[in-house]
Amino acid sequence: MGAIARGLYSKVPGATKGGFPVPGRPQFVDADAANFDTLPCCGIKSPMHPGRRQKLCWLQANARFGLRARTLLAPEGQPAGYIEYLPGEFAWRGVDAGGYMFIHCLWIYSRQQQRRGWGSVMVQACLEDAKKAGMRGAAVLVRDGPWLADRRLFLANGFEAVDMAPPDYQLLAKKFRAGAANPAFKRGWDRKLAQYGRGLTILRSSQCPHIAKFAADIVETAEKRYQLAPRVVDLVSCRDAQDAPTPYAIFAVIHNGRLLADHPISRTRFCNIMNKGVA
Ligand SMILES: CC(C)(COP(=O)(O)OP(=O)(O)OC[C@H]1O[C@@H](n2cnc3c(N)ncnc32)[C@H](O)[C@@H]1OP(=O)(O)O)[C@@H](O)C(=O)NCCC(=O)NCCS
Repeated sequence: MGAIARGLYSKVPGATKGGFPVPGRPQFVDADAANFDTLPCCGIKSPMHPGRRQKLCWLQANARFGLRARTLLAPEGQPAGYIEYLPGEFAWRGVDAGGYMFIHCLWIYSRQQQRRGWGSVMVQACLEDAKKAGMRGAAVLVRDGPWLADRRLFLANGFEAVDMAPPDYQLLAKKFRAGAANPAFKRGWDRKLAQYGRGLTILRSSQCPHIAKFAADIVETAEKRYQLAPRVVDLVSCRDAQDAPTPYAIFAVIHNGRLLADHPISRTRFCNIMNKGVA
């Protein structure tokens, strides 16, 4: 059942089931070079943080593919959330999602502002863009745990599971026409992992501004504590990401052909994994 039918929009202050009256209406601001430093970047506030600078370059490089990086301003004007999506052909995930608008990220920054219907406002904005562009629908990667938005938001907005990948990933899609071909995961994860051979490999990309620091911390820890010389592989295009050995794609730690982590992990978590005897 859609968000409007379920009355979610009516939870946004100033909104009614029929839509938003102009005064008090939440607004979207699309990030660009001119306003980027004034907007939160996935929780990173310092304009000098290296992840922020890399993310701006990444946004600029991907804008030509139809990427939208949108901050939701609450009716009072403060930044409250973020959604990032682009046509699935250019998704930075291990998916075949051509014809679908693909959601990379979605946040409501403060817990106090969650469950007010604003996540649904952002999902609906993406669906509207997908409809306007004549696409088959929208798709998103989900799993339990951090780094991906809660699947229940998407299920509440009419998305359904269309594919699964190990260990617990699901691909959800909202289709505008029932007969449309589903988006799907890429396959061959084990073959792709094996190509990294022996030693420690870290895959990283600038799609997420947090990755730079997580990757640097692991490189330093691997060198100092485990006397390993990690190979760092930068994913520099959506093709690189779509060919990565995990559905999340944009970050991985691989050791001797085995996947140690498929999302950003702290130094402590890295040490715990290494100390358990994988080295
Ligand atoms: C997931 C998230 C975006 C949802 O946004 P939100 O504004 O709270 O969602 P909404 O209020 O629009 O929720 C709409 C419906 O979705 C479902 N839903 C959303 N979050 C839910 C949750 N945590 N538990 C259960 N159901 C949930 C409910 O059905 C809800 O309707 P209800 O409140 O009437 O029960 C928000 O919780 C969030 O930002 N979480 C962190 C996301 C993250 O870590 N992102 C990583 C980077 S991409």
